[in-house]
Amino acid sequence: MSHPLFSLEGRVAVVSGAASGMGRQMAIGFAEAGADLLLLDINLPGAEATASDIERLGRKAIAKQTDVSDLEQIRETFKLLDQEFGRIDVIGNVAGEGETGAPEEMPVEQVQQVFQNLVFGRFAMCQEAGRRMLKQGKGSIINFGSIGGWNSLGRGHMPYGMSMAAVIQMTRELSTEWAARGVRVNCILPAQVWNDGLRARVKTTPEVQDTFVGGIPMNRLGEPEEIKGPAIFLASDASSFVTGMALPMDGGNLAMNAGGTYLGSPRASG
Ligand SMILES: NC(=O)c1ccc[n+]([C@@H]2O[C@H](COP(=O)([O-])OP(=O)(O)OC[C@H]3O[C@@H](n4cnc5c(N)ncnc54)[C@H](O)[C@@H]3O)[C@@H](O)[C@H]2O)c1
Repeated sequence: MSHPLFSLEGRVAVVSGAASGMGRQMAIGFAEAGADLLLLDINLPGAEATASDIERLGRKAIAKQTDVSDLEQIRETFKLLDQEFGRIDVIGNVAGEGETGAPEEMPVEQVQQVFQNLVFGRFAMCQEAGRRMLKQGKGSIINFGSIGGWNSLGRGHMPYGMSMAAVIQMTRELSTEWAARGVRVNCILPAQVWNDGLRARVKTTPEVQDTFVGGIPMNRLGEPEEIKGPAIFLASDASSFVTGMALPMDGGNLAMNAGGTYLGSPRASG
């Protein structure tokens, strides 16, 4: 039997990136906890497949093709939310693409585009959701950051790291602005979690997996399903006094000094 504090019964959640990976698993987790869902993704057939899975759980689910880097599309999507659901209790800001390149060569316009995808898109989603939640006097916003927004990943990830750091600070600012009016704003910082892109990369360059695992004391990469627990905690009343938090979901990565080794580490000699 689950604890009632974790229930999302009667609540409406919006999740971006809901066609695959952590967005899909977050949405399914919310539905399993009782929520109805508006599912956003650029991949409409994928979001529709998630909607079908959620309907099989007995919850309402609508898929809407939305590019979260396009402010007009976000506004249109929230109009649909008003028509179809009439409220919003939870938003999971998961989707958004980075781009890699050497900082000395990358055109500034490319860095701007990553900010458009990851920062301005998430802010527009927070603003649309926040306005409605403030009127209701209650709501929970969950932004996706990354361990790459906390310290440096290197390997050409500068625009991604800059953007994710901005998402973490946006989360703190919004949490401070809205806390007294009932709206909580937190973010989750995943380390490397399996997805189709990573699987393809490991297939062509197997050493990538060991390199990533070398930074993770749990000695493995994350599974997309592992987002469910932290996401349901932050979405539900179980976290009613928690706001402004950046929660690592990283197998211990951020806790470890970069030069550290640990039992089981590929770099430890014994
Ligand atoms: N997987 C990781 O290792 C990891 C680590 C830290 C942070 N993150 C972040 O978490 C998020 C999800 O990662 P994942 O591994 O579940 O990815 P994934 O590739 O499995 O899924 C991403 C989903 O987002 C959708 N999407 C991409 N751009 C979009 C856009 N502009 N508008 C709407 N939808 C869009 C894709 O169609 C896809 O369904 C990403 O933002 C990623 O940066 C991932």
